[in-house]
This record gives sequence, C-alpha cells and structure tokens, in this order.
Amino acid sequence: MRIVLGVGGGIAAYKVASLLRLFTEAGHHVTVIPTEAATRFVGTATWEALSGNPVSNSVFDDVHQVNHVRLGHEADLVVIAPATADLLAKAATGQAGDLLTNTLLMAHGPVLFAPAMHTEMWQHAATRANVETLRSRGAAVLEPATGRLTGSDSGPGRLPEPEVIFDAALALVQGESDYQLPLAGRTVTISAGGTREPLDPVRFLGNRSSGKQGVALAVAARNAGATVRLLAAHMEVPPPAGVEVVPVETALQLRKAALAAAADSDVVIMSAAVADFRPSEVSDTKIKKRDDSADPVITLVRNPDILHELVELRNSGGHAERQQLIVGFAAETGDSHGDVLAYAKAKLERKGCDLLVVNHVGADKVFGQDTNSVVILARSGSEPQEAAGTKTEVSAAIISRIGFELNHVSPRA
Ligand code: CTP
Repeated sequence: MRIVLGVGGGIAAYKVASLLRLFTEAGHHVTVIPTEAATRFVGTATWEALSGNPVSNSVFDDVHQVNHVRLGHEADLVVIAPATADLLAKAATGQAGDLLTNTLLMAHGPVLFAPAMHTEMWQHAATRANVETLRSRGAAVLEPATGRLTGSDSGPGRLPEPEVIFDAALALVQGESDYQLPLAGRTVTISAGGTREPLDPVRFLGNRSSGKQGVALAVAARNAGATVRLLAAHMEVPPPAGVEVVPVETALQLRKAALAAAADSDVVIMSAAVADFRPSEVSDTKIKKRDDSADPVITLVRNPDILHELVELRNSGGHAERQQLIVGFAAETGDSHGDVLAYAKAKLERKGCDLLVVNHVGADKVFGQDTNSVVILARSGSEPQEAAGTKTEVSAAIISRIGFELNHVSPRA
C-alpha cells in the first residue's frame, strides 16, 4: 500500500527511522514528509535512503506533479510520528502552511497520529481539545507511552514503540474501528529470568532460566500498547527497548519488587524461575576448602511464594480499585504419580492465580530454547488453551489471552 509518513519536529524522530523500515520491509511504498523542524533532528538524506523515495516538505518542489494534492489523494494511509503538540494543533485547525499539512487536508484514507511530547504539553487543555477534535473527525490518535522523557522527567509522552505504531496502523487500515490496542492504557509487570541465591561473595545457587520467555512476553505486552515493567532476575538476553527494567538478584529482592510493582499494575505475570529455597546462611567471605575440617554442609530454607502472596494481597483488597489479573507459570514434569496437566491443575488451585501457563520441561525442553509449547489453564475453568511455536509466537498468544480476560471476562477475586 502507499503510505505517507509525516515526521514531526521532536527528538523521537530518530525512532521513526525504525518505523519506516518496518513499513518498507513489509513491502509498502512510503513517502516521507518531514517538517522543517524534523529535519533538524534527522536529515532528509536518511529518509530518502531508507524510503528509496525523494523527500521534500515544500509545496514548491515538483510543482508540475501537484504534490500537495496528489500525495494525500493517493495515500492508503497517513501516519504522523512523532505527532508533536504543534502538528496536532495545525491538523486540528486545518492549517496548510507546508506539504505535510496540505497532505493531511487532502487525505482520503485513514490517518494515524502517534504523539510524543512532554507530559505537561500532552495534558494541556489545548492539546486535549486538539486530540478530541481530531478523534471526532475520525482520525486515530494513539495514547503516548509512559516512561522516561528527553530530560530527567518521566510520565505519559513517550512515542509509542515503532512496533506498536506499525500494528496500530495495520489494524486501522484493516478497518478495525476499535483500533485501540488490547492492552492500551494498562500497566503490566513481568518477572523474568532466574533468581540467584548467594552462598558467599562468589557463589550462588541458580537455575537454567534464560529469560527469553519473559523478555518475549515484555515485547508482546509492549506491542499490545501496555506500559511494561520488567523485573529482571538473571537473564541471558538483553531487556527490550521501551520497557522499564527493575534488576533483581534473589527471590527476596524479587518479592519486594513484585509486591511494590503490583500496587499500580493491571496485570502481573510471574514468568521468572524463582528459587524455592535459599541457603540459610550467606558467608561474608569466600568459603575455603580446608583439609583439616569436614566438608561444608549447606542448609536451605524456604523462600516465600511470591505468586501466592500477590494473589493474597489482591484478594484481601490490597489494590481495591484494580481488577488485577495475575498470571503464573508452571514448569512441570510428569511422573508415576500424575501427568503434567494433573500437576498443573493442582498448582493452579494451590496458587489461586487467574491464569497458569504450563510448560512441560525436560533436559532439552524450554530452558534456553527459542521454541516452546504451553497450555494455558484458567481459574474460571474454561477449556485449556494450547499455544506452540517460537517464544515470540507463544508470548503473543499469552498476551492476547490476557487482553481478552481483561476486556471481556468479569471481575476477579
Ligand atoms: N513462584 C513464586 N515464588 C516462588 C516460587 C515460584 O512466585 N518462591 C512462581 C513462579 O514464578 C511461577 C509459579 O510460581 O509463576 C510456579 O513455580 P514452580 O516453581 O513451578 O512451582 P512451585 O510452587 O515451586 O511448585 P513445585 O515446587 O511443587 O513444582
């Protein structure tokens, strides 16, 4: 399809280069129209090279082609990113001082604005009114993401991630009038990786979790429009862009971070492999081997069950104003006493979470692998749902199930 990508003059313009790539790699023909201010952040040459098309924002270039009329007419979709406060105001009041604003007035197809600005500007009554005006005329205006802004401040105003804008744009073109992403406006906390329980300053008890599944879930939740907080225990993969990362090491640190994060979360997903036990004592100094004394014996004590505590906190009205959804993971192996699903059902009952994602683990299964096969069990008793494929595909299935539960299933607890 033919896309016009209007780039506003904000620092987030550099992220739009990734959005442009997503469009071109998906086979779309993209004409980039940066505003004058946008070219101060990212130069015309970048847009020309990445789009493979000439770039201008002047109505006086190629006048014989009547670009200010033609581009808007021909476009199947117009995407404005970053939509600055200035561009939203110009679009809402129908100004036509340059090629981009002319194109907006001529656009016949859907128009998507992806705003980015400081929080105060986004929340200002003038911007609110402009957004309302644009929405009332049928334009789609995404909610900005929440997080670190250009300076030391943080809040709503970040440009949604390129994948989020890409997904929203395609949904809009496919005529999904409720183009709103399934987790838009939701805060999702995800624990990932494996905890490490120290024995002494150099040794720990750990596990084989790579963090890949948790990171894939964070990406899927982010792409579904959520504000994502990743409680990252030890991981072999880097955390994704566009999520808040809270590093933790031990189960006790994870517990503290999870209980704090739960206070403002709509969803908590415990995908971390939490050590059930920790050494009862942590030596301040490295444990030495000594020929004249007996071999050391490590005594373990139980770690708190974080998932269970989260459920108890939610059920006791700890977050009364929120209908929080809590998702657990179960790594199970069958044995002579029961199969994987039977154990998983008992665990769902015991932990009391809303959804339990069940992995069948073995020596070569799940840990560190890129593919996975899971069954999602629901406390509501609905049929077990199977999902298999890459961890990305499985995560997308889990996140879309979570979106469904939040948007269509009655209150929990
Ligand atoms: N979990 C947790 N706190 C712990 C242990 C596990 O929150 N101390 C969470 C995991 O993140 C996961 C779920 O509980 O979401 C299931 O973990 P698992 O280790 O499979 O279950 P256990 O409760 O340890 O049960 P069992 O040892 O009987 O398999």
